[in-house]
Amino acid sequence: MKVRKAIIPAAGLGTRFLPITKAMPKEMLPIVDKPTIQFIVEEAKNSGIEDILIVTGKSKRSIEDHFDSNPELEQDLEETGKVELLKLTQQITNLGVNLYYTRQPHPAGLGDAIYRARSFVAGEPFIVMLGDDLMSDKVPLTKQLINDYNEIHASAIAVMQVPHEEVSKYGVIEPEGKITKDLYNVKSFVEKPAIEDAPSDLAIIGRYLLTPEIFDILEHQKPGRGGEIQLTDAIDSLNKTQRVFAHVFTGQRHDVGNKEGYLETSIQYGLKHPETKDELRKYIIELGKKLEQESKKK
Ligand code: UTP
Repeated sequence: MKVRKAIIPAAGLGTRFLPITKAMPKEMLPIVDKPTIQFIVEEAKNSGIEDILIVTGKSKRSIEDHFDSNPELEQDLEETGKVELLKLTQQITNLGVNLYYTRQPHPAGLGDAIYRARSFVAGEPFIVMLGDDLMSDKVPLTKQLINDYNEIHASAIAVMQVPHEEVSKYGVIEPEGKITKDLYNVKSFVEKPAIEDAPSDLAIIGRYLLTPEIFDILEHQKPGRGGEIQLTDAIDSLNKTQRVFAHVFTGQRHDVGNKEGYLETSIQYGLKHPETKDELRKYIIELGKKLEQESKKK
């Protein structure tokens, strides 16, 4: 069966970004001039996804507005002859994918957010994409997972090697031998293990290809770590009845879900953006010199 659908859960509280996330979704934080969720939607589109369900919640209305048309703005841009900006604005409404929305009434966990997509998914294999992680590689990571599915007809979860001291922030896999250059068999999936208990340094990153049987498990899934319905726990159960593989991602991952990662990503993208790259580069070089002098004085 062709993989055509994706879910973007975006109903979390974004507490790591307070106070900005009090009234604004963290998924709308800009990387230079584009909200993170638009990068995710574009990755889905470039991977051949046709239908996307965004799971939203309170204070998340601006996500829907962003992908909607804005006739007043468009008219103004047209009248003032700002042709390029008009094109840019209209492109967002015509990205070439169908967007659907549903709400998660309480942020009861990622597993609970995904469960709300059951009837949307309607028995097909599907992709989950988290807005916290921006991925770049020659072939989009979502497409890499779809390519896996076309070979193995099973779930594949994206993982990446992370520094050992950081494993407790992630879901981690206990690998059980490689089956190809990129794919591992997995013995177990563990949500946020203590550093000393982590079965490996291969952490789950924000892209999953799942078979629809995950919903039968989520339906009865009990709250796990942090009192939340954990997707990782459901994946671990799924792996007991059908094989779930781990796909090792070797491209670049930008973790924009925490302040430091967000700032670093903004600088890296700013150094590539045609409108900012030259001035930003000059500024960073100057700033580097100044900081070096300051640290010598100390
Ligand atoms: P995170 O844990 O990274 O997001 O969940 P968060 O809860 O919003 O952020 P912090 O930890 O409080 O700072 C990963 C993704 O899953 C979504 C989030 O919106 C985020 O994109 N999510 C999480 C939901 O949609 N519902 C939930 O109940 C939990």
